[in-house]
Amino acid sequence: MGDKGFPSLRLIFCFASFIVTLHLVHGDLSYSIPEEMKRDSVIGNLAKDLGLDLRTLSSRKARVDFEGTRKRYCDINLSTGELVTSERMDRESLCGKKPSCVVKVDLVLENPLELHRLSLHVQDVNDNSPQFNDNLIEMEISELAEKGNRFSIEEAHDADIGQNAVQRYNLQKNDNFILAVDSNKVELVLDNKLDREKQNEINLLLTALDGGSPQRSGTVVIHVTVLDANDNAPVFSQAVYKASLPENSPPDTIVINVSATDADEGVNGDVTYQFGHVSEDDINIFSIDSKTGQIRVTGVIDFEERSSFEIRVKAKDGLGLTSYAKVIIDVTDMNDNAPVIYLKSLTTPIPENVSPGTEVGIINVQDRDSENNRQVRCSIQQGVPFKLVPSIKNYYSLVTTGQLDRELVSDYNITITATDEGSPPLSSSKTVQLSVADINDNPPVFEEQSYSAYVTENNKPGSTLCSVTARDPDWRQNGTVIYSLLPGEVNGAPVSSYLSVNGETGVIHAVRSFDYEQFRSFKVHVMARDNGSPPLSSNVTVSVFISDVNDNSPQILYPAPEGNSFMTELVPKAAHGGSLVSKVIAVDADSGQNAWLSYHIVKSTDPGLFTIGLHSGEIRTQRDISESDSMKQNLIVAVKDNGQPFLSATCSIYLLISDNLAEVPELKDISYDEKNSKLTSYLIIALVSVSTFFLTFIIIILGVRFCRRRKPRLLFDGAVAIPSAYLPPNYADVDGTGTLRSAYNYDAYLTTGSRTSDFRFVTSYNDNTLPADQTLRKSPSDFADPFEDLEPSVEVGTVQSASLLTMRF
Ligand SMILES: *[C@@H]1O[C@H](CO)[C@@H](O)[C@H](O)[C@H]1NC(C)=O
Ligand SMILES: *[C@@H]1O[C@H](CO)[C@@H](O)[C@H](O)[C@H]1NC(C)=O
Ligand SMILES: *[C@@H]1O[C@H](CO)[C@@H](O)[C@H](O)[C@H]1NC(C)=O
Ligand SMILES: *[C@@H]1O[C@H](CO)[C@@H](O)[C@H](O)[C@H]1NC(C)=O
Ligand SMILES: *[C@@H]1O[C@H](CO)[C@@H](O)[C@H](O)[C@H]1NC(C)=O
Repeated sequence: MGDKGFPSLRLIFCFASFIVTLHLVHGDLSYSIPEEMKRDSVIGNLAKDLGLDLRTLSSRKARVDFEGTRKRYCDINLSTGELVTSERMDRESLCGKKPSCVVKVDLVLENPLELHRLSLHVQDVNDNSPQFNDNLIEMEISELAEKGNRFSIEEAHDADIGQNAVQRYNLQKNDNFILAVDSNKVELVLDNKLDREKQNEINLLLTALDGGSPQRSGTVVIHVTVLDANDNAPVFSQAVYKASLPENSPPDTIVINVSATDADEGVNGDVTYQFGHVSEDDINIFSIDSKTGQIRVTGVIDFEERSSFEIRVKAKDGLGLTSYAKVIIDVTDMNDNAPVIYLKSLTTPIPENVSPGTEVGIINVQDRDSENNRQVRCSIQQGVPFKLVPSIKNYYSLVTTGQLDRELVSDYNITITATDEGSPPLSSSKTVQLSVADINDNPPVFEEQSYSAYVTENNKPGSTLCSVTARDPDWRQNGTVIYSLLPGEVNGAPVSSYLSVNGETGVIHAVRSFDYEQFRSFKVHVMARDNGSPPLSSNVTVSVFISDVNDNSPQILYPAPEGNSFMTELVPKAAHGGSLVSKVIAVDADSGQNAWLSYHIVKSTDPGLFTIGLHSGEIRTQRDISESDSMKQNLIVAVKDNGQPFLSATCSIYLLISDNLAEVPELKDISYDEKNSKLTSYLIIALVSVSTFFLTFIIIILGVRFCRRRKPRLLFDGAVAIPSAYLPPNYADVDGTGTLRSAYNYDAYLTTGSRTSDFRFVTSYNDNTLPADQTLRKSPSDFADPFEDLEPSVEVGTVQSASLLTMRF
């Protein structure tokens, strides 16, 4: 039974306790404790009362702060969460006669900053006994005193308050006096007239009792001397004098005049004034003029120490008759205390990426003055991304108002100014130093958008090409830049086989020697990465331009450089001056000036007969051929490039001045006369093998041709056809110098092997041979053609076979 009701009941209970906890978190806590507790006594359990667990308490650095005192009366035991006393608390010295004695304690929690106010109500304990100022009170009373006459007695005092202060007095039983006590005074009242002749001295014992438990008491002996005749005691004009005194009044300031009159004449009426009981603390603060009753300031009046004084004054006449009055001095507050700024908590350094509104510190301002003089306004200087947000009374949070950037401002000196509302106002300020911690929020940035490096070819491996620099304004490793090459390929090889970059300095080195004839430029990407975690990076393009060095000699394509004796040009006997006879064709793999070729005849059989075009390489007759000219002419032609220093190549050209090959006796000697039959059989063998070879080759070529759609072209320049098989790879592109255009370059060979093994399928060799005008015109029938069987339009060449083919002219 009742099982079903339980869960909801429990829920309500939980909810209720949740509300209580919340209330505790947001409200103040107050504890009531007796004064004079032993050290380490438990005041209360903060953890429980605030609803925080112990781990939170220590991780959030719970601590207590005291307002307006330097003593630490209590502390938190973080292992138990208890608030324990750490110093004796004496209510009397803490609060004097104040009816309620509260010690204010601030409990501060960090992360987030949180403040709780604790009030310790210190309860009085009856630890002080009532005390009279003296052990003995001397009184002189005339025997003529009437029944009902009253004689003041100085009160007893008790440091405790309330019930623990003096509650009543007891007068020892006697024949003459009874006691009258009201709030301001204690008086003996004459009940039976005195008779000096019967008893001239009376001793009375007065006991003061407090209301504490156990009760404490103090006693005094009153010694009464009975005097003769007409004596009168002085009488104060007021039972209680009240004065108001501004604090910090200078010494000698008159506080108040007290006066008493005595009905007696002469010496008996001379009244003198003095203080009654004065506590030890007040003894030097005021003085009373014994003759005039002027009370003056002699010490320091500090409202913050004491806001009021209560002094008893005594008037005594010449006979020694006395009476008492009370002087109450109220001290008024002056604005003499500047506010004091306490930095209760500060997070420094603050990471630069904290969001605006983050609390970085908590500040407490105190002013010891009262009322308006303790109203304080707090502010910070302009121009910093922080502001003060008022929290609980006199507490302020320092919060960020904008985004911080360590790279712009890494330190802030925040000056907090507190001004009270007194007149004139007092203010004070405090400077808080805040530093901003780095976050890796800046990638390295290269100083330039792109870099170019210029290097001449044939450089030494390891030589420096250029250097890249990136800057990262972050701090330490977050701003440490490391350079590296981004992976990539140049001409099919990894970039790292071309370049390396020094990770620390950004200096880029060549790993290998570059060849301009292989490539003239390439690009790599260099990355700059910082050392943060996670790292940030950026990259930049580095273009490397290789410049040419004259490292390639001109290469003579025609005539074939081997110096073959079969390379012979026929010059018709009828050739006129200026006829094109032959052409030297050369290329240079370099570029620019390094490939700008010039042709010179360095030696000739008949120096006057032939000239060569300086840049065209065209060999022309200089004059008409005459019968007297030797039939066999030899020229040695040098080809130079324009490099510094230049490189050159030479070739020999054999020219036959003849209309018919048969007319050449030397040639016949070599090739026909002696070895005619032998040569014929060689030629037949050669022809057969060439034909076989040719057929095989045709098949290969057709196959290759099929694959490569492009039509191989015969290289042609000027009037002389050159089989493209002679072209070296990568020769330079120099227009107008008689060398060859690069467009031909890619058609030049089929394999990457050495030039001599290149087989080249050449079309329209004949079509392009020597155009009609000004050039040699020969019909095939003009010569005995040993290669009649060969197809006229398709030729196969190696260097050797090309030489053979030239024989056809
Ligand atoms: C906290 O309380 C525990 C248990 O009462 C005690 O053992 C320990 O010494 C106290 N720690 C401090 C710092 O007072
Ligand atoms: C006290 O008496 C003196 C003269 O004896 C006088 O000058 C002074 O003003 C009086 N002070 C007060 C507060 O009455
Ligand atoms: C902050 O104050 C310190 C010491 O007074 C000084 O060294 C520093 O330069 C100041 N910083 C700024 C940003 O003003
Ligand atoms: C670098 O940045 C990271 C966050 O990005 C931060 O945690 C670290 O403290 C920074 N290092 C330094 C040396 O400031
Ligand atoms: C290089 O930087 C560009 C932009 O600067 C970026 O788009 C690219 O992704 C980066 N490349 C690498 C490999 O980091």
